[in-house]
Amino acid sequence: TVLVVDFGAQYAQLIARRVREARVYSEIVPSTMPVAEMLAKGPKAVILSGGPSSVYEPGAPTLDRALFEAGVPVFGMCYGFQLMATTLGGTVDNTGAREYGRTELTVSRAASTLFEGTPDQQSVWMSHGDACSAAPEGFTVTASTDVVPVAAFENDEKRLYGVQYHPEVLHTTHGQQILEHFLYRGAGLAPTWTTTNVVDEQVALIRAQVGSSRAICGLSGGVDSAVAAALVQKAIGSQLTCVYVDHGLMRKGETEQVEKDFVAATGVQLRVVDASERFLSALAGVSDPEQKRKIIGREFIRVFEQAQAEIVAEAPGDHPVEFLVQGTLYPDVVESGGGTGTANIKSHHNVGGLPEDLEFQLVEPLRKLFKDEVRMVGQELGLPEEIVQRQPFPGPGLGIRIVGEVTRERLDLLREADAIAREELTAAGLDRDIWQCPVVLLADVRSVGVQGDGRTYGHPIVLRPVSSEDAMTADWSRLPYDILARISTRITNEVKDVNRVTLDITSKPPGTIEWE
Ligand code: XMP
Repeated sequence: TVLVVDFGAQYAQLIARRVREARVYSEIVPSTMPVAEMLAKGPKAVILSGGPSSVYEPGAPTLDRALFEAGVPVFGMCYGFQLMATTLGGTVDNTGAREYGRTELTVSRAASTLFEGTPDQQSVWMSHGDACSAAPEGFTVTASTDVVPVAAFENDEKRLYGVQYHPEVLHTTHGQQILEHFLYRGAGLAPTWTTTNVVDEQVALIRAQVGSSRAICGLSGGVDSAVAAALVQKAIGSQLTCVYVDHGLMRKGETEQVEKDFVAATGVQLRVVDASERFLSALAGVSDPEQKRKIIGREFIRVFEQAQAEIVAEAPGDHPVEFLVQGTLYPDVVESGGGTGTANIKSHHNVGGLPEDLEFQLVEPLRKLFKDEVRMVGQELGLPEEIVQRQPFPGPGLGIRIVGEVTRERLDLLREADAIAREELTAAGLDRDIWQCPVVLLADVRSVGVQGDGRTYGHPIVLRPVSSEDAMTADWSRLPYDILARISTRITNEVKDVNRVTLDITSKPPGTIEWE
């Protein structure tokens, strides 16, 4: 394991991903973890992330010197670099000389473990206020910039390395190479970590955890729950039952996809509960987005609990149903502050928000994986491309994409428009370029149009294509005009009561991705 020590901001997750891209397993630990505890994990290498602080700020995170004396290879980046410098007796000045963004780095000609085989001049991404002016004793300065005399240093004998910039961001042209030099050359690690290992390891762990008991899993149709279910199915077979709640707010073909493709690929026992009547009557007359979400969440839990009771009742003599499978991902785990696996936590609820008092132990086979790794595991397990490469879709479904009251007619109309947009985007090969493209019906808005020879008074449809890395922030996608034109023409021609198609050109923030 490589430990990535998190000094704040969002760098640590990105670093951990890059390390895994280099096929070395990594985990994130908070910078507040005592060094003895870090070392007790037996790390093969440690990476110190960047962070928002200045080493001179009162209360800025520090690090026990013992980490650098344990014989474990350490790589400091940005704040981690400065901390390494000051802790080991180098000089970091609060010069007021700031560098933000793309910067030219000059690599010195001295032999270097990190920079071997990379150009003398390279673009790097900087973000700092303080600057290192003298490396600690025993260190060689290996790079500089116009502003910073010591932009990188290394001590090969002690296997300690540092760079002032962010190798983990894509703007740093040789970032991945330098990281790999640290891992392979500096720390002597081999690129052996693969998703095949993950599948084998998880299958064994799940078998040990569940034993002869039974498990249920709420399938939402999304990637995470599908891959989690497929993994558990591989481990315990018929001891698993999946429950798919069709709340009537799904997109066209979605329920069928789960019923056919997913079952065909996994052989899982699936129980599809058609609860659309129940959801639609609960939603009748409701326009407020928060109220809609609450109602959908509440009904979801009721239906799920009922299905659970039925599963137990159908085979009372069978082994008890003690486990609930959830598709919790590593970012959820890191964000809720829990780095290590505990069996019985209740924090994250990915399955449409299941309640905390459900009497289950959780099985969360994806809690160490990032989204792209989950997709790879899904592929490994033979799930169809349509499931593995799915774009995110919210639990409350089309219910929060109708601005106004949700009715069956409106849902049918939106389903058609959404299917057209998805079809055209897929045909144009744009699925991988966009993060997702909500299609929204402004049911409470009407506008005048002309179709054929007649006046129409219909509803607008909004296209909301966005690009994003993690849905925390997003930008509107610059889709080709001819694709937008085709979607617009088809929707207005083929969907009754829609006479206008508009494009949402708002980033997030200030907008959110969904309209409600
Ligand atoms: P927003 O609208 O907050 O959406 O920018 C961010 C991401 O989250 C998805 N989303 C949801 N997913 N349950 C979910 O499972 C929800 O209630 C929910 N609301 C928003 C949204 O599609 C986007 O990917």
